[in-house]
Amino acid sequence: MQHIQSYIEEHKDRFLNELIDLLKIPSVSADSAYADDVIKTAEAVKTSLEKAGCDHVEICETEGFPIVYGEKIIDKNLPTVLVYGHYDVQPADPLELWHSPPYEPVIKKTDIHPDGAIFARGACDDKGQMYMHVKAMEFMTTTNQLPCNVKFMIEGEEEVGSVNLSKFVKNNQEKLKNDVILISDTGMIAQDVPSITTGLRGLSYVEVEVTGPNRDLHSGLYGGAVANPINMLTKMIASLHDENNHITIPGFYDNVEELSEEERAEMAKAPFSLEAYKKALDIDAVYGEKGYSTNERNSIRPTLDVNGIWGGYIGEGAKTVIASQAFAKISMRLVPNQDWENITNLFKAHFENIAPHGVKVKVTPHHGGQGYVTPIDSIGYQAASKAYNDTFGKTPIPQRSGGSIPIVSLFEQELKSKTILMGFGLNSDAIHSPNEHFGVWNYFKGIETIPLFYKYFTELSQ
Ligand code: BES
Ligand code: MN
Ligand code: MN
Repeated sequence: MQHIQSYIEEHKDRFLNELIDLLKIPSVSADSAYADDVIKTAEAVKTSLEKAGCDHVEICETEGFPIVYGEKIIDKNLPTVLVYGHYDVQPADPLELWHSPPYEPVIKKTDIHPDGAIFARGACDDKGQMYMHVKAMEFMTTTNQLPCNVKFMIEGEEEVGSVNLSKFVKNNQEKLKNDVILISDTGMIAQDVPSITTGLRGLSYVEVEVTGPNRDLHSGLYGGAVANPINMLTKMIASLHDENNHITIPGFYDNVEELSEEERAEMAKAPFSLEAYKKALDIDAVYGEKGYSTNERNSIRPTLDVNGIWGGYIGEGAKTVIASQAFAKISMRLVPNQDWENITNLFKAHFENIAPHGVKVKVTPHHGGQGYVTPIDSIGYQAASKAYNDTFGKTPIPQRSGGSIPIVSLFEQELKSKTILMGFGLNSDAIHSPNEHFGVWNYFKGIETIPLFYKYFTELSQ
């Protein structure tokens, strides 16, 4: 029976070239200018699943972009793994900050990736990580080592909130029935520190609009006499945190789960260098909620951040003007037990309440999702842990991530199964940023580790 390492060795170039071809299609779900490319990517994913040995592959149309579904059912009595991933990507801008064009993938060596990394939008999030599963599937089917049933569900709207996938999951419970959900769309601590993600934060994303006078005004003739919407908006935003960087929205922390001292001590054992962290970001100090470490601040604590703010004159030179309106986009990262719709309502009520006289405030909710935590004593976690042990020679560390994949909590609610998050990216891979990349070593390590998950999961399920 052929071993995965020799299979990878034999097909290395093809595995890289196929991923590179997929990365060349700009599947930006947020921008309608790319709609044709998103659909083209769905077709390419469908073809790849057919070639990888799925018996039945289909494109499931939605009101938005399609979901690619594939399966191979070998025996109804064996367990079923459902693989989820996304083929859409974030917009690539600002383009001028890329060292090579985002949809012309190149492999370059970096300090962290001496074997090279593929630079392209979506390389790590999530085309590269999703494609590891397609190649692991190809290995298992062509070498007769698939130990259980597999279902693939690859969507095209993760980066815009998975609204249509939610409906699809609710309406297709029987089709999607599974024993465990497997996702590679997160990260690990470092190349020599394997970890399995055991938690994701929830999200509430809102847009706010502050309106003052009915037109832009001369800032000399009216300045000082009317409320300036930009001044008001920035004041309101500043008031959302107190001097300890605690969020001031009444009720915001009501359901936040407080970790025990033991759990916090366990978390603190994960290797982390504050100096290296600051150096990597070129900052002289970290910043955040009083009483919590950096790793706690970015995983087990909720946050509120402005993602964009605009209004008034930003063209060349100076224009003396009081803008009629000011805007901001705000995200709140939530922890398990905080309900995102409740938080959205609390934000809206509070923001409207603190509006100074002289301006009107409008809050428009965008999307959101619940957080997620998964226990480490499940069969799925144990199988993943054994798989990493084999390929890294070390037991992986459970780690809660600060990012969000809102659909994961919906999976648990609707399909009643646990999700295992086997991510192979690094924080330094620059997902959502210019020069996103994915280590070639990480790509192959993922392909090597995934079949072992299937093997151990099937064994432990008997
Ligand atoms: N793959 C990321 C989420 C992620 C990355 C989780 C790294 C943990 C570690 C996903 O594609 C993503 O970007 N999610 C969005 C939320 C979504 C609703 C747009 C996020 O976290 O901002
Ligand atoms: Mn992703
Ligand atoms: Mn993403």
